[in-house]
Amino acid sequence: WTPKGRGVWRYASMLPLKSGVSLGEGQTPLVKSVLGEGLYVKFDGANPTGSFKDRGMALGVTVARESGANKVVVASTGNTAASAAAYAARAGLRCYVVLPRGNVARGKLVQAALHGAELVMVNGYFDKALEYVVNYGTRYAYPLNSFNPWRLEGQKTLAFEVYEELGCPDYVVVPVGNAGNISAIWKGFKELASLGLCNKLPKMIGVQAEGAAPLADAWERGLEEPLFVDEPRTVASAIKIGRPINWPKALRAVRESGGFFVKVSDGEIIKAQRLLATKDGLGAEPAGAASVAAALKLGLRGTVVAVVTGHALKDPDAVEVSAREVRNADELAELLER
Ligand code: F0G
Repeated sequence: WTPKGRGVWRYASMLPLKSGVSLGEGQTPLVKSVLGEGLYVKFDGANPTGSFKDRGMALGVTVARESGANKVVVASTGNTAASAAAYAARAGLRCYVVLPRGNVARGKLVQAALHGAELVMVNGYFDKALEYVVNYGTRYAYPLNSFNPWRLEGQKTLAFEVYEELGCPDYVVVPVGNAGNISAIWKGFKELASLGLCNKLPKMIGVQAEGAAPLADAWERGLEEPLFVDEPRTVASAIKIGRPINWPKALRAVRESGGFFVKVSDGEIIKAQRLLATKDGLGAEPAGAASVAAALKLGLRGTVVAVVTGHALKDPDAVEVSAREVRNADELAELLER
């Protein structure tokens, strides 16, 4: 445990690789929230491409390059695509992103296009896009979805950053989609504990949206396996996933830690997004605000870290915008006087 420097490579002593591609990911703000006693927001929307995926891509793209690949491929609800596109560009690799048509927020599409990725659309949900990548994509290109273990090695660094600033909290609340990140963060905390640095491990709370809650639904009923959803529905398009590929790892993380899965409604997500923006000054995309929605709903005691996984600008269409018009300076003065 000898943190040094910037980017995920700050934690090289804890990683299976010692150096590699970086855009200065990580070291994101940990902000004390005004919304709840003991509540902290880990704002991973502040990463270079605006989501936590950058932590994992730094390692994933490094391994892709070192293994001699010249192409990478991902299925994505958008953030993985944006991040893969940027890191692949940096590493000089071609990037193919397979996206569910109509289910990707605008900001993310724009990023993938801007960074020069090849955009491929499939009709259906994320789960279909992932099936295509798993079945065929991996034969022709290096896959960078979260079944790639290097991705999770990068994403575990969030735990290290929380530890450096706060020690080990009582709870860590994480939005769950394809279910990689929650197990990555849990791995990070367990590694700290194995070095004797974290004497009480946090409970991991996995948050899903009501209409896309295969793990939370199963948890509620005490089932051992997820209740897969064929037609996921939620305003939080990033976690609009019916068949999370990493479910066994996520379930293990939640069980081992003594945590649980919970679901929140779209209304609760949008309300939390609003509160986070207007009270804490932090702009989250809906999926990112799901953790805050859950933290507020559960009213947990102790130190709680809600992981906000993506930036508000990712999904501009999720925000209602209203404006007043003034015809002259007097009308502006009148408005300001009120
Ligand atoms: N929050 C955001 C903003 C995400 O983009 C994702 C996943 C998650 C949470 C869930 O993380 O899948 O590790 O459980 N987005 C993926 C993508 C699926 O394609 O960008 P997870």
